[in-house]
Amino acid sequence: MNTKVGNDILEVVNLLSSGELVAIPTETVYGLAAIFSNENAIKKIFEVKKRPASNPLILHVDSIEQIHLYVEEFPKIFQELATIFCPGPLTFLMNKSDIVSELITAGKNRVAVRIPDNIDTIRIIKALGFPVVAPSANLYGKLSPTRAHHVVDQLDGMISYVFDGGECERGIESTIIGLEGNEVVIYRLGSISPEDLGQHLGYLPGLKVHEDKIPVASGMVKYHYAPSTPCSFYNSNQTYEENVGFIFISKKLEEMPDRNVRLLTESGDLNEAARKLYATLHEMDRLEFSHIYIESAPDKGIGKAINDRLSRAVAKFKADKNNC
Ligand code: TXA
Ligand code: MG
Repeated sequence: MNTKVGNDILEVVNLLSSGELVAIPTETVYGLAAIFSNENAIKKIFEVKKRPASNPLILHVDSIEQIHLYVEEFPKIFQELATIFCPGPLTFLMNKSDIVSELITAGKNRVAVRIPDNIDTIRIIKALGFPVVAPSANLYGKLSPTRAHHVVDQLDGMISYVFDGGECERGIESTIIGLEGNEVVIYRLGSISPEDLGQHLGYLPGLKVHEDKIPVASGMVKYHYAPSTPCSFYNSNQTYEENVGFIFISKKLEEMPDRNVRLLTESGDLNEAARKLYATLHEMDRLEFSHIYIESAPDKGIGKAINDRLSRAVAKFKADKNNC
């Protein structure tokens, strides 16, 4: 199959209608979209990503009103949060209505729903007349894509079209929340920080982002979001070596050559660091260093989501080392 890269909304709508897979831009990361009503297309997503069928998909809708159709009940507190944060990087877990296939929810009662904040993708969903399901457009467990060419690097020849919407503004996936009793809890840290939610809730939502026996969300599994190059957290004992890469959040060690070092933000703006995180990891990965050291972010606001992704990326290599 020839994977086309372009920005023709009509062509994308026709492809999705006929059951093809298309990578679409969102404000967080690129998604691998299929029309929600075609089970064969949904199955193709799992095949292409090599994703276990037990791992459910997020439904992407074009407006708050649309959400009501796909859930049994849209809890009042979620409606309030939706008016504040949507469209945007907040995903709600709610009991699904009958029209949502169990292939989407992996047999679970709850469906994950969000409204992406990307004008092209909203136009696509509106013109299609149906929501799309879309996991991040990467192979399972690998780095998420924040630019069209990241998708091509991993999925070329396996999907019909990549809609090139440029760089994703946020760069880290949506925050996933659910209700336990009357309390909002976070199942995946993401672009909306616990503090952002706390401001409107009047309490800081609990975090359930670590793996129990059965993770609620795959972002909870220990190893995920990993580059191919072995990586670990930076500490000040590590010094320059020719074949090693370094990613710093906001200050770099001056004596290193440009090739070996990247800085995620000059000004200390953690939103900028989040936006550049995956793109920098993709870029460093291509340089084929023997190791990449990455500095952790301050543990506040979006820094928490950055550290969450980094700890899952480095966990893979810790485990590999222990198995040698
Ligand atoms: O920002 C995002 O959320 C991006 C863009 C493309 O929208 N999407 C994304 O999808 O990150 P994915 O599939 O890579 O991650 C979705 C996470 C997974 O951890 C999945 O297990 C969880 O959401 N999830 C989806 N539906 C769920 C459900 N019904 N119950 C529990 N977890 C669910
Ligand atoms: Mg993903």
